[in-house]
Amino acid sequence: MGRLRLPSSWLWARGRAVAPRGQTDGSQGRGGSGRFHLVSPLLESAALSEAAGAKVYMKLENVQPTGSFKIRGIGYLCQEAARTGCRRFVCSSGGNAGLAAAYAAGKLGLPATVVVPGSAGEAVRRRLRDLGAEVEVCGQVWDEANRRALELAEAEGCMSIHPFDHPLIWQGHASLVRELRDSLESKPDAVVLSVGGGGLLAGVVAGLREVGWPDVPVLAAETWGAHSLHAALRAGRLVSLPRIASVAKSLGALTVSARALQCAREHPVLSEVVEDAEAVRAVERFLDDERLLVEPACGAALALLYAGRLRRLRGEGRLPPALASVVVVVCGGSDIHAAELRALKSRLGLP
Ligand SMILES: Cc1ncc(COP(=O)(O)O)c(C=O)c1O
Repeated sequence: MGRLRLPSSWLWARGRAVAPRGQTDGSQGRGGSGRFHLVSPLLESAALSEAAGAKVYMKLENVQPTGSFKIRGIGYLCQEAARTGCRRFVCSSGGNAGLAAAYAAGKLGLPATVVVPGSAGEAVRRRLRDLGAEVEVCGQVWDEANRRALELAEAEGCMSIHPFDHPLIWQGHASLVRELRDSLESKPDAVVLSVGGGGLLAGVVAGLREVGWPDVPVLAAETWGAHSLHAALRAGRLVSLPRIASVAKSLGALTVSARALQCAREHPVLSEVVEDAEAVRAVERFLDDERLLVEPACGAALALLYAGRLRRLRGEGRLPPALASVVVVVCGGSDIHAAELRALKSRLGLP
């Protein structure tokens, strides 16, 4: 069983670990060598443990600046780019990756342009502007916005920031596993996470190898309609989904990255797909259990635990019969609020 060792700078409030206000994991100046992400809390969840039949630790990435794990990898990529002369970032994600890029640019004192499709709502545009980014609207779908972003990034000193497909992004995300190694007394028996384009998966697999845990299985959760990793594994090659047909928009990559598919071949990765309704039910249950609101993208990973998939995988012999501890990456996401959760439930016909 893994007992927790929290960094001494964490405070305890009402039985929960909290970081000192404003603490980040390093310096924040232009081209500074510190990091922009927090050392996130790792907490045991009684409710998830009961549902999963194993001790479950939550790696709370929802508390990161801009609300998701994305700042780890994108922050690192932006810092490295700035160190080597980049003077402007261009990103085509109106989602959590774009927010992380805008935040990192602000910390580095560099301008960022985020190109979003017309379908991106006013709330997202406002949030990006609040972070200091210039927002350009181009086309109706992401591909059109991305083409424009790549065009802009051709200007001297500009760099295009991909939402998930870059080795420095994976290196930055790997910091999450180094933190697990520093907090847990022994390695977990499994890590549960969500997969969109596969940046988080690639980073966690890199981290597991780096800390000497290459045999820890990863449960990779997707929703039907955004199941590009599952489809690639079934086909034995990269395939593109015809469209994204899931409410978990942040998992909406038509094609998973080549690196993610390679990870699933080189490392014990169990691909699991849940229904939208399971992901949204998990979001609501997690809100009740932990008082934390996350996107359906994150609900996909939580659903594996709530819906008894872990028990099933053990029963099928795909995981060891007894699991001492499991870590779930609470990847977070900022495109969610109470009214949106109500709307998602009603759209899916949930009571
Ligand atoms: C909240 C959240 N969870 C999971 C993912 C999936 O991450 P990746 O694309 O690295 O697989 C994303 C991607 O944007 C996200 O925003």
